[in-house]
Amino acid sequence: MKFIDTHCHLTDERLGPVEDVLARAGEAGVVALICATASIPDSAAAAEIAGRYDQVWCTAGIHPHDAKDAGEDYLERLEELAGNPKNVAIGEIGLDYHYDFSPRDVQRRVFAEQLALACRLEKPVAVHTREAFEDTLAVINDVGAGGEKILFHSFTGGPDEAGRVLDIGAYVSYSGIATFKNADAIRAGAVLVPDDRIIIETDAPYLSPEPVRKMQINEPSNVVHVAECLAAVRRTTPETLAEQTTANAIRFFALR
Ligand code: NI
Repeated sequence: MKFIDTHCHLTDERLGPVEDVLARAGEAGVVALICATASIPDSAAAAEIAGRYDQVWCTAGIHPHDAKDAGEDYLERLEELAGNPKNVAIGEIGLDYHYDFSPRDVQRRVFAEQLALACRLEKPVAVHTREAFEDTLAVINDVGAGGEKILFHSFTGGPDEAGRVLDIGAYVSYSGIATFKNADAIRAGAVLVPDDRIIIETDAPYLSPEPVRKMQINEPSNVVHVAECLAAVRRTTPETLAEQTTANAIRFFALR
């Protein structure tokens, strides 16, 4: 089976040496990894890692937590980073009203500006949304971003929210959260996602999936557990789920 971990934070030092993480991922069948990013320095570090390893790709973006520290020239910096040959998306960008680490109006402005940049550059977008679902859809609508270029990463919505995301044509990515015992609503939503719009990720080093949830540091090799859980829920085999999600990730991110 071949998997793609479409969202992992390889720049996070808690993961330990990147070579070792990639070796374990390779043994588990992870053939490609997309290093997600949260700030300009983080995006530059991700591009550096992606430059060193064929199977690693990267994004560039300002996380909603970091929106208040984006800096005046951040859009120019992002555009530069997006021009890196290994860059495949703008992200993770969005809104997080759970932590409110940045003021909400600043989060909305920085999200909208990055979405508009992604549209102009014709880049896919990885969206983070937490306790901000309505405003996230409103910003996407206001900017006029096409849903087919948008991936809702580590999706935690239930059937209603999944339906609304699918209605705008977006892709949906599931992480270890979908495997948690109390995540019945998320799994009920995951059943509704068409075969050609579902994607998987780890969000490592966060969110270790069941049955390895006790691992304090999650890592890309664990994407196999996300795939197994979703396959069971969707009444298909892990092999089929792996094929579908890998093909979808290659298409969505235009991996070569
Ligand atoms: Ni993330």
